Amino acid sequence: MRGFFRGVLRAQRLWVQGGGPGWGAGYCHWRPIHSCSALVYRRHGPDLDQLRMEQWDFQAIGPHSVRLQMLAAPVNPADINMMQGTYPILPEFPAVGGNEGVGEVVEVGDEVTSVRVGDWVLPVDAGFGTWRTEVVCEATELLRAPRDVSLLGAATIAVNPFTAYRMLHDFQQLRPGDTVIQNGANSSVGQAVIQIAAALGLRTINIVRNRPNYEGLSADLKAMGADYVITEEELHRTGLGLILQEVPKPRLGLNCVGGLSGGLVLSHLDSGGTLVTYGGMAKKPLQIPAKSLIFKNISLKGFWMTQWKRNNRKDLHLLQSVVDALCAMLRSGQLTPPRCVLVPFQQYAQAIQATVQPHQPKQVLLMQ
Ligand SMILES: NC(=O)c1ccc[n+]([C@@H]2O[C@H](COP(=O)([O-])OP(=O)(O)OC[C@H]3O[C@@H](n4cnc5c(N)ncnc54)[C@H](OP(=O)(O)O)[C@@H]3O)[C@@H](O)[C@H]2O)c1
Repeated sequence: MRGFFRGVLRAQRLWVQGGGPGWGAGYCHWRPIHSCSALVYRRHGPDLDQLRMEQWDFQAIGPHSVRLQMLAAPVNPADINMMQGTYPILPEFPAVGGNEGVGEVVEVGDEVTSVRVGDWVLPVDAGFGTWRTEVVCEATELLRAPRDVSLLGAATIAVNPFTAYRMLHDFQQLRPGDTVIQNGANSSVGQAVIQIAAALGLRTINIVRNRPNYEGLSADLKAMGADYVITEEELHRTGLGLILQEVPKPRLGLNCVGGLSGGLVLSHLDSGGTLVTYGGMAKKPLQIPAKSLIFKNISLKGFWMTQWKRNNRKDLHLLQSVVDALCAMLRSGQLTPPRCVLVPFQQYAQAIQATVQPHQPKQVLLMQ
């Protein structure tokens, strides 16, 4: 499914192509009036050394478009997979990296009524190219974020907490007191699951990989609202025996790792439970114990937020309502941004390389 980057990039690509020799006689007869710094790549590759900071020019905005100053944008696993060429949707080249982030509206077209100068906004769809200092796009490509939440909260809400929120609402009818089990519990999605579940009165069993400072991580996740934190190794060794004396068996399992770890989550689900797979960080096929499917009638589901948003693309009110609900949680302190490191935009290479190392907090690029 290549070629999904739309208007945002198209004008800029024309300019880049037209800006070379012979431009004056070509199809590109407009004059650039703004320019931005953008993190651009022109090939896929496993080593992630293909990203370059470039100056890109763009023209005056049209009646339905908006100019944004990007403020902050995280580096998510999907951004890495896109650069590597392993994501199911891939950009046309030259591509600007980054799918998520928050921008401030600095100029609106004459016909735009949905946002105003000074608003904070988030891209609706994947492939926006958020790693840049400015961008022009259609107003319909944006959702609003209120300015009374933290910058970091706004920059990181539209992908991971959005995913956590939908997965907790869409697969099992959970009631307060029910239990959810997840692996990758310290991921940004996992942290959001912990907090949103706690706000809904759900109990969470949180599996993480062992690490040097496991005790510190466990304490952090418990401070966010995790009921139980357990390493994969410990779970293999002891099972959930003691925990299940205190809480019901989980009805929902969330898997972002795959391999043995995903099977481990599944094997601890209650009869009739659902395993939702939304990531494959271990890059290994999900190992499913046959007896869980046969004797416990477990359902296996997948969730892809990009597709969920595209399915509901015409209902901007629905998409905005999820952002609003999450922002209300940010405001009330029920939800906090993920554990992260703020990285000046120019030091992007450091943020990219840190993202593929184990046990790292989320890297967030600061443009302003
Ligand atoms: N389907 C969707 O719509 C959707 C939406 C959002 C995110 N996701 C996916 O959800 C996953 C988490 O995203 P995120 O942004 O929350 O991640 P993140 O904050 O960047 O954290 C990465 C997580 O992956 C774990 N991890 C990394 N390599 C691993 C490996 N080889 N084996 C096991 N665990 C490993 C890390 O554990 P350590 O700390 O132990 O390294 C950490 O928990 C990714 O796969 C992402 O693509 C999917």
